Amino acid sequence: MLENPLMEGLSTIRQPSPFSLFIFGASGDLTARKLIPALYALFRGGHIRTFNIVGFARRPWDDEGFRSRVRDMLERSSDRSPSPQLLGEFLSRVFYVSGSFEAPEGYRQMARRFGDDPGKLYYLATPPGEYETIIRALGEAGLSEAPDRNADAPSGPQEDRAPDRDGRFSRIIVEKPFGNSRDTARRLNDCLSGAFRERQIYRIDHYLGKETVQNVMVLRFGNGVFEPFWNSRYVDHIQITMAETLGVEGRGGYYEKAGALRDIVQNHLLQLVCLVAMEPPNDLDPDSIRTEKVKVLKSIKPLSPRQVAADTVRGQYGTGIIEGQEVPAYRREEGVDPASGTETFVALRLSLDSWRWAGVPFFLRTGKRLSRRTTEIAVKFRLPPHLLFPAMEPGPALANTLVLRIQPDEGISLNFNAKIPGFSLDMRPVNMDFSYGSSFGDDPAEAYERLLLDALLGDATLYTRADEAEAAWAFADSVLAGWREMKTPPEPYAAGSNGPDRARALIGEGRRWRKL
Ligand code: BG6
Repeated sequence: MLENPLMEGLSTIRQPSPFSLFIFGASGDLTARKLIPALYALFRGGHIRTFNIVGFARRPWDDEGFRSRVRDMLERSSDRSPSPQLLGEFLSRVFYVSGSFEAPEGYRQMARRFGDDPGKLYYLATPPGEYETIIRALGEAGLSEAPDRNADAPSGPQEDRAPDRDGRFSRIIVEKPFGNSRDTARRLNDCLSGAFRERQIYRIDHYLGKETVQNVMVLRFGNGVFEPFWNSRYVDHIQITMAETLGVEGRGGYYEKAGALRDIVQNHLLQLVCLVAMEPPNDLDPDSIRTEKVKVLKSIKPLSPRQVAADTVRGQYGTGIIEGQEVPAYRREEGVDPASGTETFVALRLSLDSWRWAGVPFFLRTGKRLSRRTTEIAVKFRLPPHLLFPAMEPGPALANTLVLRIQPDEGISLNFNAKIPGFSLDMRPVNMDFSYGSSFGDDPAEAYERLLLDALLGDATLYTRADEAEAAWAFADSVLAGWREMKTPPEPYAAGSNGPDRARALIGEGRRWRKL
């Protein structure tokens, strides 16, 4: 394995020991858009040093053929062309194994060429239907067995964060979707545990790698000022929005089976709910944090079919205008049934059975082809108990709001009321604003960079645990069951709008959704 020449003098950077990363599904979209650019950024930043990247897919390419594709991926993924010297260094570490996922030959070839490498990380970036085949084949080929230094060790923060002492590990990253129901998630967990131990398994949800998502815990537990108000005495409700202007981007086949509930709500949005609602963990041990998140997931009440009818809205985009361009309706997208009943928008209300959050509704909203791209968490506080000033009109405009902007324009703002200068006692809401860009300069790292590096370092804090992956399905399963019973199609909304009108009614009297 070759060393990264950029590493001279960069000894304070977290670095994994030498490793080979095997990407199953190397010819796919995720590899091109996220994994290769993230690995190159880690290399350029001096975070990874001695490594091989091994693509594994069915296409009959060789090392050189894959290298030229990796070069294209990097040129397409960034505005900045990669420097020729650095790119050459990176590509010399890239290899390819051609094989079918079912047959043993490809795995034998992998074992022959890279079997002696001390650190092995397998990345399942294939369609999910292939996961179980690959996991079993890795187990049968003895490739899952490279002893993970941590595998039998008791969990603890030092164990998880210290660099590998002997550098031997074998780990697997499993992309979402992790199952499409609680039962299938459990089956996948069983299959994984047939070949790997839990400490070797990294279930990815890329939202957890976003800088601003990690900041939710720092905001809450690294400051004295917010936590005392973070409960049902002071919080009226919480709104979590993940709105996209993009459509299904050529993934119609996958999306038809997933829909917005499985694609976004069950994983990304519930993870945000966990971070907002969890109790402070005792320490930063990955298991302490994940145990608190599991408690939140278990406190989310599954909905009865009646509640699904009242507390959820699903929609599907029709044709419309996005950024000045007419875009096709969902049913006209490639790979989509022209009579499809799949939802591209969901708004719903959920409640948590817990001491802290009793009576505080959480409103979640996500959709494709909406008017603006934004992901944010808004904590809406209760009105003051006594409306002292004549200008105070009870209503949503008066409620103080703490907004955590996940993307774009990452930051945090607190909205409160102030007196308008002048002789009368008029007031209006003003903003106290923190922006990552102006406070810290550099753009935050891409989620995949952080998450890949963590998995290479053996830190599973930002990955989901087996019980967490299953618990996150219980609520989604109840909503899906309710929709199946209702048999009504999703409500249409125009691309470029804010979603179906009924979402406005869902949030109820005296409250309103934040503007997209
Ligand atoms: C993925 C979904 O998990 O997240 C996509 O499958 C979605 O449908 C994407 O577009 C959004 O991620 P981000 O990081 O752009 O908010």
